[in-house]
Amino acid sequence: MDVAVLDDAEAVGAHVAALVADAVARHPDLVLGVATGGTPLPAYRALARGSGDLSGVRLVALDEYVGLPPGHPASYAAYVEREVATPLGVPSAHVVVPQGSGAALERRIAALGGVDLQLLGIGRNGHLAFNEPGSQLDSRTRVVALSETTRRDNAAPFGVDPVPTHAVTQGIGTILEARHLVLLATGAAKAAAVAAALTGPVTPDCPASVVQTHRRLTVVLDAAAASGLDGWRLVGGPAAERVHHPQL
Ligand code: F6R
Repeated sequence: MDVAVLDDAEAVGAHVAALVADAVARHPDLVLGVATGGTPLPAYRALARGSGDLSGVRLVALDEYVGLPPGHPASYAAYVEREVATPLGVPSAHVVVPQGSGAALERRIAALGGVDLQLLGIGRNGHLAFNEPGSQLDSRTRVVALSETTRRDNAAPFGVDPVPTHAVTQGIGTILEARHLVLLATGAAKAAAVAAALTGPVTPDCPASVVQTHRRLTVVLDAAAASGLDGWRLVGGPAAERVHHPQL
Protein backbone atom coordinates (compact mmCIF):
# COMPACT_ATOMS: atom_id res chain seq x y z
CA MET A 1 0.00 0.00 0.00
CA ASP A 2 1.33 3.40 -0.97
CA VAL A 3 -0.35 6.32 0.78
CA ALA A 4 0.19 9.99 -0.01
CA VAL A 5 -1.29 12.67 2.23
CA LEU A 6 -1.41 16.12 0.65
CA ASP A 7 -2.56 19.52 1.81
CA ASP A 8 -5.92 19.80 0.11
CA ALA A 9 -8.27 18.57 -2.60
CA GLU A 10 -6.46 20.50 -5.34
CA ALA A 11 -3.16 18.86 -4.41
CA VAL A 12 -4.85 15.45 -4.40
CA GLY A 13 -6.19 16.21 -7.88
CA ALA A 14 -2.77 17.28 -9.18
CA HIS A 15 -1.13 14.16 -7.70
CA VAL A 16 -3.70 11.79 -9.21
CA ALA A 17 -3.58 13.59 -12.56
CA ALA A 18 0.21 13.16 -12.66
CA LEU A 19 -0.18 9.48 -11.84
CA VAL A 20 -2.71 8.98 -14.65
CA ALA A 21 -0.69 11.05 -17.14
CA ASP A 22 2.37 8.95 -16.37
CA ALA A 23 0.42 5.73 -16.94
CA VAL A 24 -0.95 7.06 -20.26
CA ALA A 25 2.54 8.11 -21.37
CA ARG A 26 3.59 4.47 -20.94
CA HIS A 27 0.32 3.00 -22.31
CA PRO A 28 -1.48 5.39 -24.66
CA ASP A 29 -4.41 2.95 -24.89
CA LEU A 30 -4.74 2.69 -21.09
CA VAL A 31 -8.06 1.33 -19.79
CA LEU A 32 -8.89 3.89 -17.10
CA GLY A 33 -11.64 3.10 -14.60
CA VAL A 34 -13.29 6.37 -13.65
CA ALA A 35 -15.10 7.18 -10.44
CA THR A 36 -17.75 9.89 -10.55
CA GLY A 37 -18.85 12.22 -7.75
CA GLY A 38 -17.08 15.27 -6.37
CA THR A 39 -13.77 13.82 -5.19
CA PRO A 40 -12.10 13.11 -8.56
CA LEU A 41 -13.19 16.37 -10.24
CA PRO A 42 -9.95 18.27 -9.41
CA ALA A 43 -8.00 15.33 -10.87
CA TYR A 44 -9.99 15.39 -14.12
CA ARG A 45 -9.57 19.19 -14.34
CA ALA A 46 -5.82 18.95 -13.75
CA LEU A 47 -5.55 16.21 -16.38
CA ALA A 48 -7.45 18.36 -18.87
CA ARG A 49 -5.00 21.24 -18.26
CA GLY A 50 -2.05 18.95 -19.01
CA SER A 51 -0.47 18.61 -22.40
CA GLY A 52 -0.66 14.82 -22.83
CA ASP A 53 -2.64 13.19 -25.65
CA LEU A 54 -5.38 11.16 -24.00
CA SER A 55 -7.33 10.35 -27.16
CA GLY A 56 -6.33 6.68 -27.08
CA VAL A 57 -7.51 6.10 -23.50
CA ARG A 58 -10.57 3.91 -22.89
CA LEU A 59 -12.83 4.99 -20.02
CA VAL A 60 -14.91 2.56 -17.96
CA ALA A 61 -17.36 3.92 -15.38
CA LEU A 62 -17.96 2.18 -12.08
CA ASP A 63 -21.67 2.69 -11.79
CA GLU A 64 -24.86 4.31 -13.04
CA TYR A 65 -28.28 5.14 -11.63
CA VAL A 66 -31.20 2.99 -12.72
CA GLY A 67 -34.29 4.57 -14.24
CA LEU A 68 -33.02 7.98 -15.36
CA PRO A 69 -33.98 9.12 -18.85
CA PRO A 70 -31.05 8.98 -21.31
CA GLY A 71 -29.00 12.17 -21.15
CA HIS A 72 -30.23 13.15 -17.67
CA PRO A 73 -27.56 15.60 -16.43
CA ALA A 74 -27.24 13.78 -13.08
CA SER A 75 -26.62 10.43 -14.80
CA TYR A 76 -23.10 9.11 -14.64
CA ALA A 77 -23.09 8.67 -18.42
CA ALA A 78 -23.59 12.45 -18.68
CA TYR A 79 -20.97 13.07 -15.95
CA VAL A 80 -18.32 10.96 -17.69
CA GLU A 81 -18.98 12.68 -21.01
CA ARG A 82 -19.04 16.20 -19.51
CA GLU A 83 -16.32 15.99 -16.83
CA VAL A 84 -13.96 13.41 -18.26
CA ALA A 85 -14.27 12.39 -21.93
CA THR A 86 -14.90 15.81 -23.50
CA PRO A 87 -12.30 17.80 -21.50
CA LEU A 88 -9.71 15.05 -21.95
CA GLY A 89 -10.37 14.61 -25.67
CA VAL A 90 -11.44 10.97 -25.32
CA PRO A 91 -13.88 10.00 -28.11
CA SER A 92 -17.37 8.89 -27.00
CA ALA A 93 -16.75 5.54 -28.68
CA HIS A 94 -14.08 4.89 -26.00
CA VAL A 95 -16.52 5.35 -23.10
CA VAL A 96 -18.24 2.45 -21.36
CA VAL A 97 -20.87 3.04 -18.66
CA PRO A 98 -22.84 0.20 -17.02
CA GLN A 99 -26.44 -0.20 -18.13
CA GLY A 100 -29.27 -2.63 -17.55
CA SER A 101 -28.33 -5.63 -15.43
CA GLY A 102 -24.62 -4.90 -15.82
CA ALA A 103 -23.73 -8.23 -17.44
CA ALA A 104 -22.75 -6.44 -20.64
CA LEU A 105 -20.28 -4.30 -18.68
CA GLU A 106 -18.42 -7.38 -17.47
CA ARG A 107 -18.13 -8.55 -21.11
CA ARG A 108 -16.93 -5.11 -22.27
CA ILE A 109 -14.27 -5.01 -19.56
CA ALA A 110 -13.10 -8.50 -20.55
CA ALA A 111 -13.00 -7.49 -24.23
CA LEU A 112 -10.83 -4.49 -23.30
CA GLY A 113 -8.41 -6.82 -21.54
CA GLY A 114 -9.35 -5.62 -18.06
CA VAL A 115 -9.03 -2.26 -16.31
CA ASP A 116 -5.43 -1.03 -16.00
CA LEU A 117 -5.89 1.78 -13.49
CA GLN A 118 -9.04 2.19 -11.41
CA LEU A 119 -9.81 5.48 -9.68
CA LEU A 120 -12.05 5.00 -6.64
CA GLY A 121 -13.87 7.28 -4.24
CA ILE A 122 -15.31 6.20 -0.91
CA GLY A 123 -18.70 6.85 0.62
CA ARG A 124 -19.12 8.19 4.15
CA ASN A 125 -20.61 4.79 4.95
CA GLY A 126 -17.62 2.99 3.44
CA HIS A 127 -19.28 2.17 0.13
CA LEU A 128 -17.09 1.38 -2.84
CA ALA A 129 -18.66 2.29 -6.18
CA PHE A 130 -22.29 1.61 -5.18
CA ASN A 131 -21.45 -1.51 -3.19
CA GLU A 132 -23.18 -0.53 0.02
CA PRO A 133 -22.36 -2.01 3.45
CA GLY A 134 -23.38 -5.67 3.49
CA SER A 135 -22.30 -6.30 -0.13
CA GLN A 136 -20.60 -9.61 -0.86
CA LEU A 137 -16.85 -9.18 -1.17
CA ASP A 138 -16.83 -11.32 -4.35
CA SER A 139 -19.86 -9.61 -5.92
CA ARG A 140 -20.05 -8.91 -9.66
CA THR A 141 -21.71 -6.10 -11.60
CA ARG A 142 -25.39 -5.99 -10.67
CA VAL A 143 -28.34 -3.81 -9.72
CA VAL A 144 -28.37 -2.72 -6.08
CA ALA A 145 -30.59 -0.66 -3.79
CA LEU A 146 -28.99 2.59 -2.64
CA SER A 147 -28.85 3.33 1.07
CA GLU A 148 -30.61 6.41 2.44
CA THR A 149 -27.21 7.90 3.39
CA THR A 150 -25.98 7.57 -0.19
CA ARG A 151 -29.19 8.98 -1.67
CA ARG A 152 -28.94 11.97 0.68
CA ASP A 153 -25.23 12.51 -0.01
CA ASN A 154 -25.83 12.39 -3.78
CA ALA A 155 -28.96 14.56 -3.87
CA ALA A 156 -27.40 17.86 -5.01
CA PRO A 157 -27.19 17.20 -8.79
CA PHE A 158 -30.86 16.12 -8.81
CA GLY A 159 -32.18 19.45 -7.53
CA VAL A 160 -35.86 18.97 -6.74
CA ASP A 161 -36.03 15.58 -8.54
CA PRO A 162 -35.99 12.43 -6.39
CA VAL A 163 -32.68 10.56 -6.24
CA PRO A 164 -33.06 7.09 -7.83
CA THR A 165 -33.48 4.22 -5.39
CA HIS A 166 -31.34 1.79 -7.39
CA ALA A 167 -28.12 1.74 -9.35
CA VAL A 168 -26.09 -0.70 -11.41
CA THR A 169 -22.58 -1.02 -10.01
CA GLN A 170 -19.43 -2.94 -10.67
CA GLY A 171 -19.16 -5.58 -7.98
CA ILE A 172 -16.40 -5.68 -5.41
CA GLY A 173 -14.95 -8.76 -7.11
CA THR A 174 -15.03 -6.92 -10.45
CA ILE A 175 -13.24 -3.87 -9.05
CA LEU A 176 -10.54 -6.01 -7.42
CA GLU A 177 -9.60 -7.40 -10.86
CA ALA A 178 -8.28 -4.00 -11.99
CA ARG A 179 -4.48 -4.07 -12.14
CA HIS A 180 -3.92 -0.92 -10.05
CA LEU A 181 -6.36 0.68 -7.62
CA VAL A 182 -6.10 4.37 -6.72
CA LEU A 183 -8.34 5.37 -3.82
CA LEU A 184 -8.94 9.11 -3.39
CA ALA A 185 -10.62 10.84 -0.48
CA THR A 186 -10.83 14.47 0.57
CA GLY A 187 -12.53 16.29 3.43
CA ALA A 188 -13.13 15.58 7.10
CA ALA A 189 -16.47 13.88 6.38
CA LYS A 190 -14.51 10.96 4.88
CA ALA A 191 -12.01 10.58 7.75
CA ALA A 192 -13.87 7.84 9.63
CA ALA A 193 -14.59 5.83 6.47
CA VAL A 194 -10.96 6.14 5.34
CA ALA A 195 -9.68 4.98 8.73
CA ALA A 196 -12.07 2.02 8.75
CA ALA A 197 -11.20 1.09 5.15
CA LEU A 198 -7.43 1.23 5.60
CA THR A 199 -6.86 0.19 9.20
CA GLY A 200 -9.95 -1.83 10.14
CA PRO A 201 -10.86 -5.42 9.33
CA VAL A 202 -11.69 -6.43 5.74
CA THR A 203 -15.43 -6.78 6.07
CA PRO A 204 -18.66 -6.34 4.09
CA ASP A 205 -19.61 -3.77 6.76
CA CYS A 206 -17.06 -1.48 5.11
CA PRO A 207 -16.87 -2.51 1.43
CA ALA A 208 -13.94 -0.17 0.75
CA SER A 209 -11.86 -2.21 3.21
CA VAL A 210 -11.27 -4.74 0.40
CA VAL A 211 -8.71 -2.40 -1.11
CA GLN A 212 -6.34 -3.68 1.60
CA THR A 213 -6.30 -7.06 -0.17
CA HIS A 214 -5.17 -5.66 -3.54
CA ARG A 215 -1.55 -6.14 -4.46
CA ARG A 216 -1.22 -2.71 -6.06
CA LEU A 217 -2.99 0.00 -4.08
CA THR A 218 -2.27 3.71 -4.08
CA VAL A 219 -4.17 5.93 -1.63
CA VAL A 220 -4.22 9.69 -2.12
CA LEU A 221 -5.76 11.75 0.69
CA ASP A 222 -5.89 15.31 1.83
CA ALA A 223 -4.97 16.03 5.44
CA ALA A 224 -8.62 16.23 6.54
CA ALA A 225 -9.52 12.82 5.10
CA ALA A 226 -6.36 11.33 6.65
CA SER A 227 -7.10 12.76 10.09
CA GLY A 228 -8.49 9.49 11.46
CA LEU A 229 -5.38 7.45 10.66
CA ASP A 230 -4.14 7.30 14.25
CA GLY A 231 -0.90 5.46 14.73
CA TRP A 232 0.26 6.00 11.18
CA ARG A 233 3.66 7.52 10.81
CA LEU A 234 4.03 10.59 8.63
CA VAL A 235 7.30 10.86 6.73
CA GLY A 236 8.41 13.82 4.63
CA GLY A 237 7.56 17.48 4.34
CA PRO A 238 4.27 19.12 5.24
CA ALA A 239 3.11 19.68 1.66
CA ALA A 240 3.54 16.17 0.35
CA GLU A 241 3.76 13.72 3.16
CA ARG A 242 4.00 10.01 2.61
CA VAL A 243 2.39 7.82 5.19
CA HIS A 244 3.49 4.33 5.99
CA HIS A 245 1.45 1.98 8.10
CA PRO A 246 3.68 0.70 10.92
CA GLN A 247 2.85 -2.88 9.96
CA LEU A 248 3.62 -2.54 6.25
C1 F6R B 1 -19.00 7.12 -7.93
C2 F6R B 1 -18.87 6.13 -6.89
C3 F6R B 1 -19.06 6.46 -5.45
C4 F6R B 1 -18.32 7.73 -5.03
C5 F6R B 1 -18.55 7.99 -3.56
C6 F6R B 1 -17.92 9.29 -3.11
O1 F6R B 1 -18.76 6.55 -9.21
O2 F6R B 1 -18.64 5.02 -7.21
O3 F6R B 1 -18.62 5.38 -4.68
O4 F6R B 1 -16.95 7.57 -5.28
O5 F6R B 1 -19.93 8.06 -3.31
O6 F6R B 1 -18.57 10.35 -3.75
P1 F6R B 1 -18.02 11.83 -3.63
O7 F6R B 1 -16.71 11.84 -4.34
O8 F6R B 1 -19.04 12.68 -4.35
O9 F6R B 1 -17.90 12.12 -2.19
